Amino acid sequence: MKDFKRYMVTSALPYANGPIHIGHLAGVYVPADIYVRYLRLRGKDVVFVGGSDEHGVPITITARKEGITPQEVVDRYHALIRDAFERFGISFDVYSRTTSKIHHRTASEFFGTLYEKGDFVEKETEQYYDTEAQQFLADRYITGTCPHCRNEHAYGDQCEQCGTSLNVTDLIHPRSTLSGSAPVLRATKHWYLPLDRYETFLREWILEGHREWKSNVYGQCKSWLDSGLQPRAVTRDLDWGIPVPVAGAEGKVLYVWFDAPIGYISNTRELLPDTWQDYWKSDDSCLVHFIGKDNIVFHCIIFPAMLKAEGSYILPHNVPANEFLNLENEKISTSRNWAVWLHEYLNDFPGKEDVLRYVLTANAPETKDNNFTWKDFQDRNNNELVAIYGNFVHRAMVLAHKYFGGTVPARDRLTDVDRATLSAIAGIRKNVENAIENCRFREALKEAMTLARTGNKYLADTEPWKLIKTDETRVKTILNIALQIAAGTALLFEPFLPFASARLRNMLRLPAATWEDLGGSDLLAAGHRLNEPELLFEKIEDEAVEKQLRRLVDIKIANERQAYKAIPAKNDVSFDEFSAMDIRIGTVLEAEKVPKTDKLMRLLVDTGIDRRTIVSGIAEHFTPEELTGKQVSVLVNLTPRTLKGIVSQGMILLAEDAGGKLVFVAPENAVVNGATVR
Ligand code: MF3
Ligand code: ZN
Repeated sequence: MKDFKRYMVTSALPYANGPIHIGHLAGVYVPADIYVRYLRLRGKDVVFVGGSDEHGVPITITARKEGITPQEVVDRYHALIRDAFERFGISFDVYSRTTSKIHHRTASEFFGTLYEKGDFVEKETEQYYDTEAQQFLADRYITGTCPHCRNEHAYGDQCEQCGTSLNVTDLIHPRSTLSGSAPVLRATKHWYLPLDRYETFLREWILEGHREWKSNVYGQCKSWLDSGLQPRAVTRDLDWGIPVPVAGAEGKVLYVWFDAPIGYISNTRELLPDTWQDYWKSDDSCLVHFIGKDNIVFHCIIFPAMLKAEGSYILPHNVPANEFLNLENEKISTSRNWAVWLHEYLNDFPGKEDVLRYVLTANAPETKDNNFTWKDFQDRNNNELVAIYGNFVHRAMVLAHKYFGGTVPARDRLTDVDRATLSAIAGIRKNVENAIENCRFREALKEAMTLARTGNKYLADTEPWKLIKTDETRVKTILNIALQIAAGTALLFEPFLPFASARLRNMLRLPAATWEDLGGSDLLAAGHRLNEPELLFEKIEDEAVEKQLRRLVDIKIANERQAYKAIPAKNDVSFDEFSAMDIRIGTVLEAEKVPKTDKLMRLLVDTGIDRRTIVSGIAEHFTPEELTGKQVSVLVNLTPRTLKGIVSQGMILLAEDAGGKLVFVAPENAVVNGATVR
């Protein structure tokens, strides 16, 4: 790794328009935090910047829906998000917000500088205007009929029914969602960043200069550059955002994607009013952006073009964007509530922040989309954190207390196994360094776990509990080494599992050791006193995981209900036609699956009139035990039909749920068999 004097590490500013979930954590914030904790452990000068992105149209839509102001929306979510990050140990040096005064000033000045230099192109275009609400309409504020699938509720930028992205002028019968009226086209002026002017520079800088970037990032940049860059509007007609600081721009604000990345700068400025420029404008500073894949174009193309246009800033050294995380094999979706929300996890699994950090890193979507499952969460906790790392540390601590009163025993002569074990530490350290510095955090974590495995194996091979009666000197050596390894794990895991490391450091009374002490001389001197052992991790029981899975099933059902479209009504029937149907309440006496079929169930039903056989296609939904004794509604005068050689005399009535689930149409209270249904 090229050594820089300073590191400026940013992580995407989440929209303060809803809570955040495990996808955010896995894709951006945990990797960024691992990276900066590692740099700090190595004694580097690093600033880690975060904050909320508080502008943009969707926030105004939330506000309108809830009948509150945009400021109230962002106040609520900023606090929620900030607290969730803090509780997960995401160690920002500053977590601020784009509604801050200093940000408004910084972004405004940035725009002003580019404006003065003539870096923008002014263009007049036609845009939809709501004459009743007297304002221009963002695409999201317009609905109409989709020209592709005729869905009448398509948005101006996209039809959610057929998934096509639209131009707002494609909509048939456009309507303003503000007033319901038909919008009219009206001329409006905007400022464009002429990205085409930076194309040559960007091609050279990225495609030649940064071949080492992750292939997903490099690939996306290349495809954008190959299809040619167009000027991009950096202003909007909107009343929420940073006013465009130019005469004649009343009612216009900076586009959210123009101001948000400048937020990184503003927040650094807020933290370090006197020295922020060292981090942003000095060639010996290393700028790294942690983001998700949907942000690549903004951080690799548009923001660098802005920085280049301004002229006094450095450009990012690396943009290690991740792919997406799925939840139980389905795309995480805020609108469908298909997510594990951080504030809910913190309630359901208090004290297990590191477990989630661990699982999300072990499973990080670094090179492709990846999947989070609760089963994997439980397995990794129980089989890795508890059984390997926690178990090793606990054994070493307990034995040191049992045999040597909680002090580190002195070492004697070393065997080959001892020497090999001790020298493994330095090699593992190198591997972890190499992986972290190249943003391969899954690999780094796996390597760190190798040290815990090594410790476990060492104790299993040397069996100090067997030697204690015969060779105490040897046991002293073994435990000394085991404790050095335990101390090593405290350091190695610190970027990944900061809470566990803090507890382990406390157990070992190892406050000051740094990364550089790892694998060299001993971390713990002979005679050093230890604190009492405590468990680093606890087993996660089946019930806890089942509860989470049940919650997801409930969400699925709720979503299906919501998406359910009732099938249109059939043609009218006369009263006589209705009365011709003879529906009775009966009781199922026997039930049995029809052999060699999947769906069919043979039922013997007491209809009050007689006992008869009915064949029903419900075998995939109910067991014979569930059916026996049940009261059901039966159409008794249906012409008999032969199914699989069995004569079926009638039909059982069932309702079909949105999700295809079957429910009996049955009397609310028991009635006599043969009771008529009218
Ligand atoms: N709010 C954006 C998102 O969630 C990210 C903004 S990153 C910044 O996709 F660079 F603009 F700050
Ligand atoms: Zn459509």
